[in-house]
Amino acid sequence: MSSQQIQVVADVAALATVAAEQIVVGAQAAVAARGSFAIALSGGSTPRAVYRKLAEAPLREQMPWANTYVFWGDDRAVPLDHPDSNYRMAYETLLAHVPLPKEQIQPVLASGEDLDAAAEHYERTIRCYVPGAPPRFDLVLLGMGPDGHTASLFPYSPALSAGDALVVATPVAPLEPYVRRITFTSRLINAASAVLVLIAGADKAGRVVEVLEGPHEPERLPIQLIAPVDGDLYWMLDRPAARELSRNTL
Ligand code: 6PG
Repeated sequence: MSSQQIQVVADVAALATVAAEQIVVGAQAAVAARGSFAIALSGGSTPRAVYRKLAEAPLREQMPWANTYVFWGDDRAVPLDHPDSNYRMAYETLLAHVPLPKEQIQPVLASGEDLDAAAEHYERTIRCYVPGAPPRFDLVLLGMGPDGHTASLFPYSPALSAGDALVVATPVAPLEPYVRRITFTSRLINAASAVLVLIAGADKAGRVVEVLEGPHEPERLPIQLIAPVDGDLYWMLDRPAARELSRNTL
């Protein structure tokens, strides 16, 4: 069964706290049920504060780090230590500060020449660690860009119609940083048990209302492709991002 919930919190600080708490609850439940927790992190600016919350008391002590497996829903084609790397952002804000075994951290290795091969390699890695066909993440974290993209699924990109592929390389992104990316496809995201979309800021309000209340145009608004097949979709917005939504949606 699938469900969708929209939660609105006061501001970006509250968003970080509520999201981090939801991650801990999800992790504890997954470990209790199946013995492990597989999460795909996102890049962008909104999750930074979430990662910092997870890296400090009390949530740091409540996360089952020994049984947590960390992946990335997308990353830029840059070295892992590059300032634009989503891995680097998560490492600096979270992973460097928690007792997560190194072999349970699986970055996207996207700095080589052959990005298609790198995407295939990441897909194989995911199939090794994450059970299910297609693999079923316990939680996929997502953001939404100003153009309605999510992960690195940009408007009108070939990555939107990737057939059975779970991870693909994309052309150069139409937004900064202007580099190619490797991204989960909507097929892999939608196989997850839960997807948590974090959106903050008044500059996203117009796009939020289009995505949640407008017509279904996923080529133009790729985040509309996100609909877990048998899982829960949580939209978590701060009040500025939600300000144009109608009462019926909330
Ligand atoms: C990326 C991100 C991307 C991000 C959105 C929202 O690698 O660019 O994964 O999909 O989540 O662009 O970013 P903000 O949180 O900065 O608005």
